[in-house]
Amino acid sequence: MVDVISVLSTSDLFYGLANSSLERIASHLKSVTFAPDLVICREGDVGHSMYIIVEGNVSVSSNMGWGQRELDRKGPGAVFGEMALISNDVRSATVRTLEETECLQLDSEAFDSLLDKDPIMAQRIAKIMTKRYSTLVHKTSNELLSAYRALIFALANMTESRDPETGAHLERTRHYCVLLAEFLSSHEKFRGEITPSFIDGLYQAAPLHDVGKVAISDSILFKPEELGAAEYEKMKVHTTIGASMMEKVIRQSGSELFRMAYRICLYHHEWWNGEGYPEGISGEAIPLEARIMALADVYDALLSKRVYKPAMAMREAEKRIRDGAGKQFDPIMAEIMLANIGRFEEVYLTYQDEEPA
Ligand SMILES: [Fe+2]
Ligand SMILES: [Fe+2]
Repeated sequence: MVDVISVLSTSDLFYGLANSSLERIASHLKSVTFAPDLVICREGDVGHSMYIIVEGNVSVSSNMGWGQRELDRKGPGAVFGEMALISNDVRSATVRTLEETECLQLDSEAFDSLLDKDPIMAQRIAKIMTKRYSTLVHKTSNELLSAYRALIFALANMTESRDPETGAHLERTRHYCVLLAEFLSSHEKFRGEITPSFIDGLYQAAPLHDVGKVAISDSILFKPEELGAAEYEKMKVHTTIGASMMEKVIRQSGSELFRMAYRICLYHHEWWNGEGYPEGISGEAIPLEARIMALADVYDALLSKRVYKPAMAMREAEKRIRDGAGKQFDPIMAEIMLANIGRFEEVYLTYQDEEPA
C-alpha cells in the first residue's frame, strides 16, 4: 500500500503543504498503473488529469518541427500533466512510460475544487509554479541570447575571410567603442543618451560595421596599392550594402540591436563636416553610434598594417585624430578620446592578431 501522504509531501508540486491540505488532496487521488511504452499524455490533446509518479520512469518529448525529441525524463516524486490543467490549454508535450509506472492521478475537476476550497494551497502551488517556470524562462532566454550574440559575431567575421581587416580589428574596434561610450556617458552632452543598454548594443553591433564588404570584389578588397577614383567609388558601396543587409534582418526581427547595426553600417564613413559618404550628412545629423564607430575604426586602421600601408606609430595616430577633430570627427568625442588615449592604446595592445604559423 502506497503511503500517499509521504509521496505528496516529497513531490515537486505539493511539498511543503500542511498535512490537512495533503490529506484533502489524497482523498481525490486514484492509483493507476501504466504498462511499459504507453503514451499517458499526448502533445496537443486536451488534458483532463495530472499525475504524480510513485514508481517507474517516464520520458517527456515534444515535436520540434524537425522530429520528435526527448526533453526530459521523470521519476518518483515528479509531477506531469499539471500545466494543461492550470493553464486550461492542450498538452505541451507527450509523456510515455519507459517501464511499468505507477502514478497517482488527479482529475481536473477535483484539482479545481481543491484550489477553490484551499486558497493557501492554491497560493503555494502558484508560487512553486512561478518559480519553476521563471527559472526555465531565464535559462532558455540566456541560452537564446548567447546563441544570438555568437551568430552576430559569426556574421561579422564572415567578412574576415574576404577582408584585409581582421578578426582582431573587429574585437579591438568594439572595445574602443565601449570605452569611448563609457567616457562619453559622463559628459553632459551625452548623458541620458548613452545608457548601459546603448553600450551593450554598441558592443554587439560594432563588429558588423563592414559586413557590406562581402559584396565588394577581391580585386578591390585585396589591392596592394591605394584605390583609384573609380575603385574607391565601388568600395564606398559597402556602407549601403551593409545597411540593406541589416534592413532585411530588421524585417524579420525588429530588434533595436539591428537598427543600431543599420545606422553603424550606413553612416560610419560620414564626416562631421559633411565631406564623408554615402549621404554627406554632417554634425549631429550623423547618428551617435556611427560617430563613435568612425573614431574607433579610423584609429585602429591607422595603427594597423594593411596591404597598402605600414602601421603608424601611436603618437602619429593620436596626432591624426587631433587633426581630424571637427573635420572628420565629432570634436567633443575626439577630445575625450585624446584625453584618455592611454586606455585606447591598452586595448590595441591587448587584442592582437595571432601570427600565422
Ligand atoms: Fe567601412
Ligand atoms: Fe573597420
